[in-house]
Amino acid sequence: MRIFIDTANLDEIREAADMGILDGVTTNPSLVAKEGHKDFRAMLEKICEIVDGDVSAEVISVTCNEIVKEAKELSKIHDNIVVKVPLIKEGLKAVKILSSEGIKTNVTLCFSPSQAILAAKAGAYLVSPFVGRLDDISAGGMELIAQIVNIYSNYDFQTQVLVASIRNPLHFVDAAQIGADVCTIPFSVINQLVKHPLTDIGLDKFMEDWKKNFGG
Ligand code: G3P
Repeated sequence: MRIFIDTANLDEIREAADMGILDGVTTNPSLVAKEGHKDFRAMLEKICEIVDGDVSAEVISVTCNEIVKEAKELSKIHDNIVVKVPLIKEGLKAVKILSSEGIKTNVTLCFSPSQAILAAKAGAYLVSPFVGRLDDISAGGMELIAQIVNIYSNYDFQTQVLVASIRNPLHFVDAAQIGADVCTIPFSVINQLVKHPLTDIGLDKFMEDWKKNFGG
């Protein structure tokens, strides 16, 4: 399972990359706005310098022609750019065109298995079901992941399932058990994945015993 970080914060991306666990980055307009980036292109160039893997950049257009135009500009920034396209009719039309031209897409805002099937049919490279936002409305986000993984396997669809809107370590572990292809995770949750109280207690004890014997 590939691990992406879901952020537009360059320090967070650097730290996750230094941990040796990072395969890519996802951003969205809300995350970019939160960090106050004024130059979107420069931000993407910097991210691509830090991480040698897929970097998702989202279009802000909602008509096919505009999405295709914007996607082509974004894809020129770096070979690793994957263009995030919303799961709407115009988005699917654009994905069809972009995939036929070899431009990778991440079809985002997926909330149902039927939407995921259409994204795969249109030629999406990645589909992003949002598990946390479904949990928020008591709809069972991880059930959707299991359904999509099963359906894609039934028909050997090549689209990869990217679990998005991850809010806690259980989402991450459940995604791995289901066999999702990618998880995109906020930095706060990456920190939670590393931590275990028994690791900290054990390390303190090792340090303490070492000092007792050798001083220092
Ligand atoms: O980047 C898409 C997704 O991961 C957003 O997550 O927490 O805003 O629902 P969230």
